Amino acid sequence: MLPTRSSSPCSWTRWSRQLGAISTWPLWITLWCLTPSRTTGLIENILKKAAEKGNNKITVVGSKVCITFLQNLIHMDFKSKLVKDGDTIDLGGGHELEFLLTPNLHWPDTICTYDRKTELLYTCDIFGMHYCSKEITDVEGVEELKPHFQLYYNCLMKPNAKSATTAMKKLRKLAGPVSAVCTGHGPILTHHKDEWLNMYTWSEDALKVLGPAVCIFWVSRHGESERLSQALAFGLTSNDVLVEMHDLNAIDAFEVVEACGRNQVIVVFAPPMAGTAEDNLSSVVASCNGKSHRFLVSASFGENEDPVDSIVSRFVQVGIPEAMPALRLLDGSPEKHLVVQPPAASSAPVSGQASPKGGGCAECPLQPSTLSETALVV
Ligand SMILES: [Fe+2]
Repeated sequence: MLPTRSSSPCSWTRWSRQLGAISTWPLWITLWCLTPSRTTGLIENILKKAAEKGNNKITVVGSKVCITFLQNLIHMDFKSKLVKDGDTIDLGGGHELEFLLTPNLHWPDTICTYDRKTELLYTCDIFGMHYCSKEITDVEGVEELKPHFQLYYNCLMKPNAKSATTAMKKLRKLAGPVSAVCTGHGPILTHHKDEWLNMYTWSEDALKVLGPAVCIFWVSRHGESERLSQALAFGLTSNDVLVEMHDLNAIDAFEVVEACGRNQVIVVFAPPMAGTAEDNLSSVVASCNGKSHRFLVSASFGENEDPVDSIVSRFVQVGIPEAMPALRLLDGSPEKHLVVQPPAASSAPVSGQASPKGGGCAECPLQPSTLSETALVV
């Protein structure tokens, strides 16, 4: 397994140094997820350096979404293997890897990998925490680590509580016991692994929330879309709003229809003007109706971005009301500020005490007071 996006810098350095022996590298590279551009660059470098050393045998293993991303992002042929739930790869010596698709838990292409010999479970971001000490495992104990574990869960997993619940059901059906959970962030969970695993029943509680639910469509590798959408989701879930998130670069039209059917407020972070995300945006608009849905559009600060006004007008033209005025880039600001007022009105950053005129509605979960907690200043 390769280190993921936010693995410690030392792990990346270690991997870079190991490239020196790449002519004898193993035949399989299994990817937890690929969405972060840093991982993409690493894979490309590995494949190129291996080829230079005469090693053309490496096969990259990932979910269909993951491999599709990689094929679109790197400019070389490579061997790949798509894995589905329950697929296995026998590495020899008893190390049979079992794969589980656990999408949308931070990344749309996330998978878990279980080594049946070591009984280690590799989970990408799931069960992670932003915590680092001299300890490799969770010896500090639940009481000390739980705040970090819970904050990470609240920021990245709770906004996709439905996906987290589905993932937990799959993990309970693994072919064997789990000796330790190896996440992409924080200590290896072994001393208290059962307690950590059980804590993710938080997702079942999150799904019991009543009231309008919000679906956030964000855009991977485009401006600040990822970070802003996570900040918004965190603000909403902190106010007990049920949220789910989907990457417009990874979702398909069928999933768009289902997601819009489950949710009453649709948030769109502006995609580039052309490409998969833009195509899926058309599906989003077509999947909404004026009776069931309200919408919010936000700028993403990306290049060649579809203008916020253009996206707003597409929703309005088919009769869908705004949940609140769009979040736009504050003109003339040296910093990147999102504002809730139309450009012509006097504007204040969302993270301040902004109170949009004419925006929002009493029953909508998107209220300025909610947004003010999301720190939408980049
Ligand atoms: Fe991560």
